[in-house]
Parts: sequence; C-alpha cells; structure tokens
Amino acid sequence: MLLDIHDLHLTVPRAEGPRHILRGVSLTVAQGETVGLVGESGCGKSTTARAVLRLLPDRAETSGTITVQGIETTGDGDGVHEVRTRRAGMIFQDPRSSLNPVRRIGDSATERLVHVHGVPKREARARIIELFAEVGLRDPADLLRCYPHQLSGGMLQRVVIASALSTDPELLLADEATSALDVTTQAEVLAVLRRLRRERELGVLFITHDLLLAAAYCDRVYVMREGAVVDEQPARSLFEDPEHPYTQALARATPRLPGRDAPRADGARPAKGALR
Ligand SMILES: Nc1ncnc2c1ncn2[C@@H]1O[C@H](COP(=O)(O)OP(=O)(O)OP(=O)(O)O)[C@@H](O)[C@H]1O
Ligand SMILES: [Mg+2]
Repeated sequence: MLLDIHDLHLTVPRAEGPRHILRGVSLTVAQGETVGLVGESGCGKSTTARAVLRLLPDRAETSGTITVQGIETTGDGDGVHEVRTRRAGMIFQDPRSSLNPVRRIGDSATERLVHVHGVPKREARARIIELFAEVGLRDPADLLRCYPHQLSGGMLQRVVIASALSTDPELLLADEATSALDVTTQAEVLAVLRRLRRERELGVLFITHDLLLAAAYCDRVYVMREGAVVDEQPARSLFEDPEHPYTQALARATPRLPGRDAPRADGARPAKGALR
C-alpha cells in the first residue's frame, strides 16, 4: 500500500488536561488512487496529513503507525527523512504562507533539489522550469526571479504543486489545494492535478471541506469528525447513498441548485442521479 495510516492518535498536553486531536484515524491510499479526506473545519484533516511527514504540533504525543511504501514515519526511526525527501510531496493549505515572502520563487522551488538532493543549482533550475511549464505556468524562466507577492493565487498554487513534484514523489498530500482559488482557477488547477496524477500514477490524499468537490474528484472518500474517521465511501455513493448519519447531514447541508445536478469538477455532467 502506498500510504497506510493505522489507528493514529495524537494528543497535545495542556494544563487543563490533554487535548485529543486525532482519535484513531485509519486510512489507506493505493498507487494511482485519489482519496478524499473531508470534514468540517478543525476536525483534524491537516493534522493527519502533516503527521505523515511527522510535522507535529509542539509536545504532541502520538500512537499508531503510518507507512509510505512500507517505510514507517511514526516513532523515532529515520524513515521520515526518506519519505519527506523522495516519496511524498505536500501542498500546504495556504500557498502564501508556505512560501517565504522575501525569497525569490526560484530559490524556494529549487531548495529541496539543491540542499537535500545535492543537485547542482543550474540543473535544479532547469528541472523547475520544466515543471513550471508542465503545470501550465507561462514564461517559467522569468518567474524564477519573482517574489511571491508578484504572483496571483492561481500562479502561486501552480508553483507550490510544481515544487511538491520536484523530487518525483509517488504520493501527493494535497491540503485544500484549490480551496482559496476562484472557481475558474480552481477548475484549471484541478485539471493540472488530474493530468499529473494520471501521467505519473500518483496516489493523492485530497483534503477538502467541500463534499461536492470530493465526490466529483476522488475515487474514494473518508469523512472525518472530531478527530476520527466516521465513514468511508466510494465517491459516487457519497450523495447517492450516504450511510452514516453524519455523512447524510453533510450531504444535506451541501448547497445545490434546485432541480439541477451539480457540474462535475472536470466540467462534464454527472451520471444520472450521481450528485442529486
Ligand atoms: N500546533 C497545534 N497545537 C495545538 N492544537 C493544534 C495545533 N494544530 C492544530 N491544532 C488543533 O487540532 C485541531 C485540528 O486542526 P486541523 O488544522 O487538523 O483541522 P482541519 O480539519 O485541517 O481544519 P480546516 O478545515 O479549518 O483546515 C483543531 O482543533 C486545532 O485547533
Ligand atoms: Mg486544514
């Protein structure tokens, strides 16, 4: 299995008693599969994804296991280094906060290749220029000299995607990769992600608070609530046949136009009754 999270608990100690942020999360992502992780704000989606790379809150205590291609990233072993540097790429929730505002885009984007993989600077820049073109950024060589504030949100999101792919990962952790974008840019960025995942056979953990988007974009979806996975469904049954009461409540709370099926993320009409 590409990503296997088993019974992950995460607790942060506080003066008034421990705070349980994750309560036994288990999920899997196979190679080439896109798996949604949905749930309301604060339920623990980002914490789960960050835990894969052992990016934990201060003083956090964890139990359970996480493996990426069989390499364990939990515990004290050094498997996490291999996973962070080669096996997994992460798109963080807010592209502006994941890029240093006073560093040029080129320096941020080539950082992992140069400083972790020891790729010569010139070669790393050539590789990033190729990747920028691959994610649909125009004039990629000029972009390397820009600062983050000179780019639009959609451009920055593409920069972040290209950077996450720079070390040819097998697994992409995409945390609200398109949530901050307007719908047109969102559709463009989703199309880029879809093509990349097909061409590279990437496994994707696709985190979103948008149930409709998860249903349209993913193969399978986990629903989280208050630090626990409460439901797992093939994406098409999320709206058609939600089993768990919480999934039913989320599906009912999702706004749709009366009498019309929602458009799919790829612009095609959904199968009859698929997104009622
Ligand atoms: N570094 C931290 N220290 C203490 N608590 C934290 C830390 N990071 C997150 N939390 C808490 O853990 C819970 C889960 O946060 P998380 O960011 O994983 O939620 P989320 O599902 O990604 O929410 P959103 O949809 O708003 O991004 C929240 O209650 C949050 O306050
Ligand atoms: Mg989050």
